[in-house]
Amino acid sequence: MTKKIIIAIDGFSSTGKSTIAKQIAKQLSYIYVDTGAMYRAVTLYAMQKNYITNSSFDKQKLINDLQNIDLSFQFNNNLGFAEMYLNGENVEKEIRTLEVSKLVSKVSEVSEVRKKLVAAQQEMGKEKGIVMDGRDIGTVVFPNAELKLFMTASADRRATRRYKELLDKGHDVKFKDILFNVQERDRIDSSRKDSPLIKANDAVEIDNSDMGLKEQFNRIMSLVKLRIEQN
Ligand code: DC
Repeated sequence: MTKKIIIAIDGFSSTGKSTIAKQIAKQLSYIYVDTGAMYRAVTLYAMQKNYITNSSFDKQKLINDLQNIDLSFQFNNNLGFAEMYLNGENVEKEIRTLEVSKLVSKVSEVSEVRKKLVAAQQEMGKEKGIVMDGRDIGTVVFPNAELKLFMTASADRRATRRYKELLDKGHDVKFKDILFNVQERDRIDSSRKDSPLIKANDAVEIDNSDMGLKEQFNRIMSLVKLRIEQN
């Protein structure tokens, strides 16, 4: 049997991490974990409880309530990937709204939130055979991952992708708001104190501003083969 490895994919928002991660996981029959969905689900919970609004954030209330947040992924056979469940409820659609995107970076700054989610992510990767994407996977969650990728692309390209994605899903959004959100999240994610978004020393950088999906897939699969042989 071929050896299983951990593939850690980090990078800026809307760099297509999850699209490529899903394809790679499928090809290898690995588990795919979208850690952004977990931070989004905690944000949705904080919004539902009114701990966070556009103008206020009661961090302590969220911290005190963290033990009541149960997150799980359930595989959807029709879609071919796992969907996010918050306290037993499918929240896949709700967590992708611009409202959640606007507040998620603030919730992600809270160390207690990160501690809870990182522990759950490490547990999921215990058996290896996993593709995980996020911001701190190669630096904090799996510093010993056999393959680390760091995805980048211009802010304009990324906002265009996100904009189309949201329009396709029927959301009513403006391009300038999406671009602002992408830039703002880059700023907060890269400058926060706990686990900022940085490229791990041993990560392979992939700038996909002008790269199609097939090219990215082939490039990553050849890296995967190499790392499986080496380990
Ligand atoms: O990947 P995404 O855009 O769905 O992630 C949403 C936010 O969650 C992102 O702006 C920062 C945060 N995040 C994080 O802090 N650490 C992770 N491992 C994944 C996401």
